[in-house]
Amino acid sequence: MTIKLRPSTQPNTEALAKALTQTVTAAGLAPSIHNTQPWRWRMTGDGLDLHLEPSRLLQVSDPDTRLSTLSCGAALHHARVSLAAQGWRATVTRIPDPAHPGHLAHLRVDGPAPEPVEALTVRRARTIGLRHTDRRPLTGPPIGPADITTLLTAVGAEGASLYILRPDQIIDLATSAHHAQRTDLHEARWQAELAHWTGGTRPTGSGIPDATIPAQPSETPVPGRDFGHYGDLPISQGHDRAAVFAIIYGRGDRPQDWLHAGEALSAAWLTATEIGVSLLPLSATIETLSTRQAMRALLSSAGHPYLVLRLGTAEPDDTGPAYAPRLPTDQIIDMS
Ligand SMILES: Cc1cc2nc3c(=O)[nH]c(=O)nc-3n(C[C@H](O)[C@H](O)[C@H](O)COP(=O)(O)O)c2cc1C
Repeated sequence: MTIKLRPSTQPNTEALAKALTQTVTAAGLAPSIHNTQPWRWRMTGDGLDLHLEPSRLLQVSDPDTRLSTLSCGAALHHARVSLAAQGWRATVTRIPDPAHPGHLAHLRVDGPAPEPVEALTVRRARTIGLRHTDRRPLTGPPIGPADITTLLTAVGAEGASLYILRPDQIIDLATSAHHAQRTDLHEARWQAELAHWTGGTRPTGSGIPDATIPAQPSETPVPGRDFGHYGDLPISQGHDRAAVFAIIYGRGDRPQDWLHAGEALSAAWLTATEIGVSLLPLSATIETLSTRQAMRALLSSAGHPYLVLRLGTAEPDDTGPAYAPRLPTDQIIDMS
């Protein structure tokens, strides 16, 4: 089904600037590691440039900027969805200048789309405002093969792959997750960085609020992120034994590969939200080299692991946790 929604004029400077500002606002709702929002958009004559923002990178837990780049990939996918839903055609160039890998992408607006916008695209853009992280145990019914196929397709369409862990591999994932967090929590610099983004000192509009952190340990086969403190999010005593664990992976370990991984995460998460599946990223095992290698072994070296996901369903009649804050749009965009 299609609906009529198309910019009424040819791209002029004012209409384009308005569309691009709206695009950056939507992209700002993307998920990011510790809600650092490590992106900076620059409006150019013909579209947008996406850069890593040095002041919002994690020097200790993400020194090579892999997970920040992945987060920016999620923002890039949100931007593509938003622009398409507003009726604009765009071309994306990833890592346009390899000499400057912090310049992640150029999004060139080619003009109004020739066809009316698909209802699915409009729905996808609306889902951007609904998606959020839910760290409570998954006590709803297990997800079925049709849901998994839908998620595999969403990830595959963005140039990455999704591996569903076999039940016998979950114990290895749990061991690695324990190991990664135990090692990290013993390092003072690592603890200080986590405390900065999850405590009172984080910049306003970013970081992880206590309202989204469980108030007590949850019953789960694979430990969730240890934030170093409990939050205010009430959780049930239920065990999420029906959870499915998966790994987004792909062929390379270059910045463009991590960018694609983020686009795949965004596509999977928006799709999951639409089909009622809860998706929680678990990145502790990816942050440490030894456990990242263990994740690669789980994939039988079929590719590079980018992110572990927990998939399942939450309590059916439940509104879910609060939304994490965001930086205002004028703090993530340069107009010239
Ligand atoms: C690359 C990446 C890694 C993440 N790792 C974790 C994690 O290990 N544990 C967790 O609870 N949330 C994780 N998250 C979720 C973020 O904390 C969350 O997206 C952010 O706080 C913004 O909140 P929102 O998703 O509700 O908008 C991760 C997100 C991304 C994009």
